[in-house]
Amino acid sequence: MIRMKSTRTFMFLICPIMVLIFIYYSSGRLHLRTSVQKSQARLDILHSVGRVVAPGMTTWRGKHGFPSFIAHQSFLPEYDKQGFLTKLDRKLPLELQYKYGNLSKGECKPGYTEAKMTLIYPKFSKPAPMFLDPNFKRLSKISSYPPPFGVKTQEKIIDHILSATKSYSLGSELDSLSCKKCIIIGNGGILYNKSLGSKIDQYDVVVRLNEAPVAGFEKDVGSKTTMRITYPEGAIQKPERYEKSSLFVFSAFKPMDFKWLRHMVFKDKLRTMEGFWKSVARVVPRDPEDMRILNPYFIQEAAFKFIGLPHNRGLMGRGNIPTLGTVAITMALHNCDEVAVAGFGYDMNTPHAPLHYYEKLKMSAIKESWTHNISKEKEFLRKLVMGGVIHDLTNGI
Ligand SMILES: *[C@@H]1O[C@H](CO)[C@@H](O)[C@H](O)[C@H]1NC(C)=O
Ligand SMILES: *[C@@H]1O[C@H](CO)[C@@H](O)[C@H](O)[C@H]1NC(C)=O
Ligand SMILES: *[C@@H]1O[C@H](CO)[C@@H](O)[C@H](O)[C@H]1NC(C)=O
Repeated sequence: MIRMKSTRTFMFLICPIMVLIFIYYSSGRLHLRTSVQKSQARLDILHSVGRVVAPGMTTWRGKHGFPSFIAHQSFLPEYDKQGFLTKLDRKLPLELQYKYGNLSKGECKPGYTEAKMTLIYPKFSKPAPMFLDPNFKRLSKISSYPPPFGVKTQEKIIDHILSATKSYSLGSELDSLSCKKCIIIGNGGILYNKSLGSKIDQYDVVVRLNEAPVAGFEKDVGSKTTMRITYPEGAIQKPERYEKSSLFVFSAFKPMDFKWLRHMVFKDKLRTMEGFWKSVARVVPRDPEDMRILNPYFIQEAAFKFIGLPHNRGLMGRGNIPTLGTVAITMALHNCDEVAVAGFGYDMNTPHAPLHYYEKLKMSAIKESWTHNISKEKEFLRKLVMGGVIHDLTNGI
């Protein structure tokens, strides 16, 4: 009887101890698990920065017995206010080296831009259609902002315009490509006399801006134009100067701009120039089927997310409008497998260099802009170049 009692006491004591031991071990294992996951995450990040870490280098415990992810905290990547990696380099992480290693030089690398962009800017989300189509009201990001950042207040007129243009993509030939290389041609004097024309023409999609001419400058800027992105004041004014075939892509900055586009699409005579800051084209010699409306999300994303311009309650304000060139690059980040640029950036150290490749205006003529913030914008473009997301053929950025 006494013996039984002591056995029971023993059992009473041993049970809690077993429970404690169980809890201790299982929590230890849990701890180990999270530590493994964190190490793995860190490894991925390190790869993504281009720093290669041999698996053996990561230990469960740091030198002083701290979990390794604490001991190595200085290795964690840092991000700036916009969410871009602060230390950028152009090296390809191993997984991309493997993915693209077998392609011959110059061959289009599927998904390259998205992969590189995501490495330096993890918040990047690729889906964003190039042009508006009749379902544009479902694009929630643009429905709450008026122009230039969205379509609010302009829905009716856009519906009307889209019912006439009927086409909403790049066209069947380009749509069917499984990999697209795009180049955005800036208008900078830096393009002048560099003989890049034949190189530019090799891209699948050649994007030009506003009235930048091609005729007479083919040696330097090429002869192919897939699309010309334009706002009313920037549109080519002489009908004979439009190329024979290219998409006329409209980018709205003011609510008024959609009215102008409606006139151009329906070939209605434009009676007034009121509301524009300079004279605008009165006709655009293009069939409605060759006209598109650029998704305004690219203006919104470039301004508020990528560059960090003042939000100003979502309204156009002092220094919060990105330049058309940066808007075009933003579009390409979402819609091209590889992105190159040429003719971007001004060399402020050479005030006598031409401002544009096509006219005599000198650099010194550039004025402080009310709407743009060129220096902040350049910081963003430099991140894309330094991170190897875009390739700058003229090295002006
Ligand atoms: C690259 O080519 C090698 C040999 O031709 C092949 O074994 C390997 O799987 C290829 N890699 C990829 C990512 O296609
Ligand atoms: C254009 O470049 C060539 C060499 O590539 C040079 O000989 C010529 O002087 C340059 N022309 C001008 C106008 O700068
Ligand atoms: C551009 O941004 C900088 C830094 O935020 C600011 O100091 C400057 O005033 C801005 N310029 C314009 C024209 O808004």
